[in-house]
Amino acid sequence: MKKKKPFEEFEKYLKLNPDPCGVQKTGLKEYTMEEVAKHNAPPSIWSVYKGFVYDITMYIDYHPGGSIINKVAGKDMTMLYNKFHAYVNIDKFIGAFKIGYIKKPGFGSKHLHSNMIPMPYKPSIGKPVKDKIVQEVKEGNDDIKEENDE
Ligand code: HEM
Repeated sequence: MKKKKPFEEFEKYLKLNPDPCGVQKTGLKEYTMEEVAKHNAPPSIWSVYKGFVYDITMYIDYHPGGSIINKVAGKDMTMLYNKFHAYVNIDKFIGAFKIGYIKKPGFGSKHLHSNMIPMPYKPSIGKPVKDKIVQEVKEGNDDIKEENDE
């Protein structure tokens, strides 16, 4: 397993490269989940949170929760992300790596704002529960259904 890199290194990189994906120039692009699925391994790893596509290639090595984040490579991470830390503001960490959004049928980009409704505050789940979920996800028993979420 790869060793986690110091977070200061990531912050320093972003200071020097405030627009690492060039999105500030091009704007967000529209993608399908099929396209996202192709980016599931280095040199390009994408994942989706609440309808937005993030390039997580670089962040993976700096994630405080460790390599479990690899589970969502090329997939939608929303459910797992919220299980562990719905209270974490994703854009505070990887906003600069937000590269696009998923176009849903009948859901045009003009309605994108409805994807941005902030999560209500959700306190962190207890450590024993968190450890159990981490174990399940690592063992691949992560067939946790969204409807069981709350
Ligand atoms: C790519 C976007 C993600 C970002 C920006 C992010 C950010 C963070 C941050 C800031 C923490 C520390 C939280 C704290 O100390 O309370 C953390 C911890 C953690 N994250 Fe993530 N995370 C991401 C994705 C994920 C995903 C997809 C998973 C699961 C597959 C995950 C699992 C965890 C776990 C298990 C911890 C440790 C929680 C704990 O010990 O309390 N994260 N993450």
